[in-house]
Amino acid sequence: MKLILLGPPGAGKGTHAKKLSDTYGIVHISTGDIFRANLKNGTELGLRAKAYMEAGALVPDELTVDLVLDRLTWPDCEKGYILDGFPRNPAQAEALTKALEAKGEEIDYALNLMVDDDVIVRRMAGRRVCSVCGASYHVTGAPTKVPGICDRCGGPVVQRADDAPETVLTRLAVYHEQTEPIVAYYRALGKEVQIDAAQPMDRVFADLTAFLGEEGFHGGND
Ligand code: AP5
Repeated sequence: MKLILLGPPGAGKGTHAKKLSDTYGIVHISTGDIFRANLKNGTELGLRAKAYMEAGALVPDELTVDLVLDRLTWPDCEKGYILDGFPRNPAQAEALTKALEAKGEEIDYALNLMVDDDVIVRRMAGRRVCSVCGASYHVTGAPTKVPGICDRCGGPVVQRADDAPETVLTRLAVYHEQTEPIVAYYRALGKEVQIDAAQPMDRVFADLTAFLGEEGFHGGND
């Protein structure tokens, strides 16, 4: 099963991708997580991506597309994968379609997590992430058991640099201008599945799994 999670920043892509990965046993690939790990490790890629991420802009395609297309060739992708944060503009979507077509493959579904901007702004203000393992929390909606300490690994929980209110507004503007057009692209391919992601987290996940079904394929296709 090959899935794309679409949606604005803060729609819940990372939250639900992790749960879908656990539920269906397929790998979760987040370009944001890959860039953040490179940034933390001080790699050349991380250093080149840093300024774009901090400004809320997209990292250039030449640093992103080959990275993801190579990642999809790893053995852990054979059973399928969940793409979170990629593709993010029409050029990335076309590159993915072409690379899959060359292997006789295609995406199964583009799950579109739909949330209005005002909800996003409130969510992002409360998001906290573990600086060690990346687990995501919310100060009121999904708090850590011990304030400031990750439930999963015990690491310190902090606010992401790009969750500053003014950067969130930039990221939303970038989403509407550059990423939203690919929703229509996947709709035209018959791949878009609309999910109301303004609901409580459990309801959103229930809708996702109700659509995907127990085996991970809607309607039991294989
Ligand atoms: P990335 O990490 O992909 O950020 P994003 O798309 O902006 O998405 P987020 O991670 O902010 O949000 P999310 O949808 O995963 O929401 P989450 O589950 O955390 O990218 C970061 C940067 O990297 C980009 O700005 C860009 O610079 C670069 N980049 C990445 N990919 C790129 C690409 N392909 N091309 C170019 N550049 C790229 O949830 C958010 C919060 O809300 C959490 O606190 C959560 O607990 C809470 N929450 C979630 N769902 C609910 C709910 N239903 N109800 C209440 N609270 C909820």
